[in-house]
Amino acid sequence: MKRALFIALLLIVAAGFALADTQVGIVLPTKDEPRWIQDQTRFLDALKNAGFTAKVLFSQGDSAKEKANVEALISEKIKVLIICPHDGSAAAAAADLAAKAGVKVISYDRLIRDTTSVDYYVTFDSFQVGAAWGEYLVKQVPAGTKGNNLYIYAGAASDNNAFIFFEGAWSVLQPKIADGTFTVRNSDKAVALRNKAKLTRDEMAQIIGQVTTNWNFNDAKNKAEANLTAVGKDAKGTVYICAPNDGTARAISDAFAADKDVKKYYITGQDAEIASIQYIIDGKQSMTVLKDVRTLVQDAINAAIAYMKGQTPPVTSYYNNGKKDVPAKPTAIVTVTRENVKQAIIDSGYWPADKFTGLK
Ligand code: BGC
Repeated sequence: MKRALFIALLLIVAAGFALADTQVGIVLPTKDEPRWIQDQTRFLDALKNAGFTAKVLFSQGDSAKEKANVEALISEKIKVLIICPHDGSAAAAAADLAAKAGVKVISYDRLIRDTTSVDYYVTFDSFQVGAAWGEYLVKQVPAGTKGNNLYIYAGAASDNNAFIFFEGAWSVLQPKIADGTFTVRNSDKAVALRNKAKLTRDEMAQIIGQVTTNWNFNDAKNKAEANLTAVGKDAKGTVYICAPNDGTARAISDAFAADKDVKKYYITGQDAEIASIQYIIDGKQSMTVLKDVRTLVQDAINAAIAYMKGQTPPVTSYYNNGKKDVPAKPTAIVTVTRENVKQAIIDSGYWPADKFTGLK
């Protein structure tokens, strides 16, 4: 009996040590999108040489679960929290808890809004992501033509990035909408605001409200189908589609491909997901934006190490989150089309060639 008690006690102590062992907590938004599995995989890879203990948890698109994850990590005595919020504003409460516990908070890819409890933001240059969509689409338009059909889609309004992507896209597309090169076919709010180069957050929210995919493939497909049902043949033919990421781009692409009055379409994306690289090779998606997650992961790890040494990570710019100018270090992005897919994706070591068929 005594022996059993002793072993039980030993186990409890051992468990306590194991629990107390996590130095860095990493919280990602969902396992249901390949983008965040990419991040998990790249983290697990890089963590092998990071020199600290870490744990990755997923929030499954649920802010309550996200907060519970953060609470669990705080109770394991983490020093640094690396968190990609499901909902940028809702995550403020979790960030506040961490800050109160003396934990450094690194917002990862998506900015946590409306709190001062964010120490650092590792991100890609999301404005450039949107600008890259705009530039790609503008380039496909035959010179001098007017009234080209443009369909715009956006990410979830709860994600601050959706606004930055949109802002970047608008910066390039708006002049071409204003001068009649493009006609927006799926947002009367965008049409109403076509002469305004710089939109307020509220104006962007109005447009995003009409064209959001919620980052959800089914929502994207349903919205594209509803848009196509709502317009006449004159709004089809050749179309230009600004799609906000790879998952939604494939869903929207499939919807447009299924419409017999759509003869040709150009469609954007981002994340360089394996399925979308295949779509690009197959001519079903026109471009994606490679955001090299290996760099983002390394930046986050370096920042965590800096904080644990009592230092501060490098800052090249600031992002306002509604309460604070958050120091940040945005990473450059790369436009990927059929022309440079081999060099940008395979030769760079981002994905191995054997994941794809028909690569030349
Ligand atoms: C990320 C994208 C991702 C999207 C949907 C955004 O915040 O920056 O890479 O595709 O969320 O998860």
